Amino acid sequence: MKKTLIMSLLVSASVFAADYSGVIEKPNASKLIEKDLLAPAKAFIMPAGCVTSNPESIARGAFIFHNLNGKKAKKNPPKGLSRKNAKGKNKQYGNCIACHNIEGARGAGNIGPDLTGYKGMFVDSGVRDNKFVFQKIADPRIDNMDTHMTVNLTTKLFTTKEICDITSYIVSPK
Ligand code: HEC
Repeated sequence: MKKTLIMSLLVSASVFAADYSGVIEKPNASKLIEKDLLAPAKAFIMPAGCVTSNPESIARGAFIFHNLNGKKAKKNPPKGLSRKNAKGKNKQYGNCIACHNIEGARGAGNIGPDLTGYKGMFVDSGVRDNKFVFQKIADPRIDNMDTHMTVNLTTKLFTTKEICDITSYIVSPK
């Protein structure tokens, strides 16, 4: 028994003593960090006709707002939106409800402001306008450098058209 124990200790010691440095991958940490760094905050010009009362655009915006990705979405995406991205992978949606409450939200978070009644409270009152909402979603850092909100257009998470859909949804009467 003692012998076996000593033998196995010797074997494991020799295994650990071997030089594995040649086979261990050593990624360049600073290169990796640089690649993952966010690009500087960017101001965008909202294109003409961006915000619309078109129900299809609003439906796409709502779907992006309330869903996480193409795999997890329970309902099928509305016309003009797919479950997969151009590379054939599950498309990432906005999952905005992780941080924001809004009409019909299920399990909404409270990290960001409640967007319920947004049109009446913020747009009709003149406190906010479509351009503000568009820029907020595109790159919230222009308005608040220390924001905890996700950056969506500078990072190309979404296209300009998709940001127009989400903006149309937020400012629509519900
Ligand atoms: C990680 C949390 C988080 C996520 C995810 C998030 N937001 Fe936000 N959002 C915030 C916070 C925090 C604020 C308030 C601070 C600020 O204005 O930057 C905010 C502010 C906003 C505002 C401005 C409200 C106002 O009038 O002041 C809008 C509009 C908005 N978010 C929309 C969205 C949309 C659309 C999405 C999904 C694409 C989203 N947010 C995802 C955290 C989040």
